[in-house]
Amino acid sequence: MPLNSDSNLPEDYPEGIYGSNKMATFSRDAVYAPLQLPRLYNLVQKLVGGGRDRAAFVRTHVVFRPDDKIVDAGCGTGGALEFLPPVKYLGFDPNAHYVRVARSRYGSRGEFLCGDANSPRVRELAQGADAFLSLGVLHHLTDQQIREILSLAQTCLRPGGRFIFYEPCFSANDHWVGRIFMRLDRGGNIKTDQAWRALISEYFATVEEYIRRPVYLFRYTIQALIGRDPRLR
Ligand SMILES: C[S@@+](CC[C@H](N)C(=O)[O-])C[C@H]1O[C@@H](n2cnc3c(N)ncnc32)[C@H](O)[C@@H]1O
Repeated sequence: MPLNSDSNLPEDYPEGIYGSNKMATFSRDAVYAPLQLPRLYNLVQKLVGGGRDRAAFVRTHVVFRPDDKIVDAGCGTGGALEFLPPVKYLGFDPNAHYVRVARSRYGSRGEFLCGDANSPRVRELAQGADAFLSLGVLHHLTDQQIREILSLAQTCLRPGGRFIFYEPCFSANDHWVGRIFMRLDRGGNIKTDQAWRALISEYFATVEEYIRRPVYLFRYTIQALIGRDPRLR
């Protein structure tokens, strides 16, 4: 689906419905720079209820077996381990500060790597995953980085493995407060529900979808997708 160059909105979507996402990248980076600090990031997540719905979604819709290998892309400070059962866990994130905090809090429960989907060590250790998590990560990335993560998920999942996607989206029934906050979000690449679904469907033949709204203090619309059956490349 073609994307509107400055807003990530499909060309056939009227601007009035979805609004645009025009906050310039440099000002967005400057405004949100303090969130690179793990303590502040954790505090803000707690205040806005960032982790609660994510945890509720995974607990309700994803069943893990005790020996499952879970890869958590963009693991941040390792918050997923608060709601995951005991599993073989590998988290990776390019933010060295976040990774340091994750190791100090949850180092006994899994392995944390500083890197992204292109890092050889990440690519090597991610192989044979039963589930690949992308929780609130992709809307922070460029389209190319998103595709790198999706390709990694596609190639590292074992047969029967699942790709778990949980991201904000613009949709026809957004809460007006959520629409405003999503346009101001730290991640500048929030897409429409249709665009996210189309993208994930390029990589996975079976996609199960859940729309959750309003979520968090900021009344977001969240799209959660479970991808199965990676397409052959
Ligand atoms: C909003 S946080 C989400 C953290 C975590 N998944 C959670 O649920 O709390 C987004 C994370 O994506 C990470 N990130 C940024 N660029 C990335 C990339 N290219 N690959 C993987 N993660 C990235 C950031 O460092 C940050 O930790």
